[in-house]
Amino acid sequence: MSRLFLSPPDVGPRERELLLDAFDSNWIAPLGPHVDAFERELAAFVGVVDAAALSSGTAALHLALVLLGVGAGDDVLVPSLTFAATSNAVTYVGAHPVFLDSEWSTWNLDPALVEEELDARASAGRPQPAAVIVVDLYGQCASWDPILEVCQRHGVPVIEDAAEALGATYKGRAAGSFGALNVFSFNGNKVMTTSGGGMLAGDDAALIARTRHLATQARDPAPHYEHSEIGFNYRMSNLLAALGRAQLEGLPQKVARRRAINAQYRAAFAEAPGIGFLPNAPDGEPTNWLTVITLDDPTPVREHLESLDIEARPAWKPMHLQPVFAQCAMRGGAVAEEIFERGLCLPSGSSMTDADVARVVEAVAEAC
Ligand SMILES: Cc1ncc(COP(=O)(O)O)c(C=O)c1O
Repeated sequence: MSRLFLSPPDVGPRERELLLDAFDSNWIAPLGPHVDAFERELAAFVGVVDAAALSSGTAALHLALVLLGVGAGDDVLVPSLTFAATSNAVTYVGAHPVFLDSEWSTWNLDPALVEEELDARASAGRPQPAAVIVVDLYGQCASWDPILEVCQRHGVPVIEDAAEALGATYKGRAAGSFGALNVFSFNGNKVMTTSGGGMLAGDDAALIARTRHLATQARDPAPHYEHSEIGFNYRMSNLLAALGRAQLEGLPQKVARRRAINAQYRAAFAEAPGIGFLPNAPDGEPTNWLTVITLDDPTPVREHLESLDIEARPAWKPMHLQPVFAQCAMRGGAVAEEIFERGLCLPSGSSMTDADVARVVEAVAEAC
């Protein structure tokens, strides 16, 4: 039996067709018509004005902070329960991550803690953070209404890290449309992939135009190479954008399959004592990018799955527990710590067959 991966790429003939189209047209580099089309199509899918295709989600996070003017010495609020890229980007601009705990209902940033932090700063006369990065973890939207309300009240701009959530909704609105700037990732393990890539999207067309400028070494219009500010080499290639267009066409089916897999796991473990799940919050429809179960001790289960060539992974280790961020401020922490101690991500890729899901279910049941 072949190895079952957590979330492998799911590609087919359409990907091959568009990739060969890009290749045969000789638009290998730089940029090209597939990049322009991918940007338009993603912006339309999410319902925002414009989007810039970039080399990674991390590059998109970095540029979002640069574009909002976040700089040395600023504070940026970040959920502790996330992938390191979210908080790494804060340090690239010389700012300090201030970590906040998650809420149980979504496992995302706790709106009550955002309010506590911003209110406390206001009443102490301390500067507000330069931005808040809100993550839609594991393909599920954060509690957007209360978060946006409190951030607006205190005049703090919001960046949405929807790297894991393209295709999810909150109250009918698409993930990746809530921030002043919105980040997507198309790395190899996401619901859709360009092998590596990202997008920065938003409703402010001028900011997205500036994203393209900064991402192409901030080259000024002139026949020679003229630069009046520091830029980056962060654009996506035409070949990868061709792959992305084909993946985006198939995204609804990929999301539907991940939801079906999640439902199969839930049904299989409904009566199993001691197995819980990342909740599907009532305010939205997640993509179920990864199905995450909770157990008293996930380690022996993970090791048993590994012995059967099934990849499973602990939930994200919170940033406030990472040695590299040990000096950073943290508000709360018990929720993120418990999720890390008890969470286990199961294979969830959209190319899994029902038999694959049954193989995982059987292995988990044996180990339990
Ligand atoms: C929450 C989150 N933010 C940011 C990123 C970074 O994206 P990339 O790997 O495309 O740089 C990822 C994925 O890797 C992620 O899961």
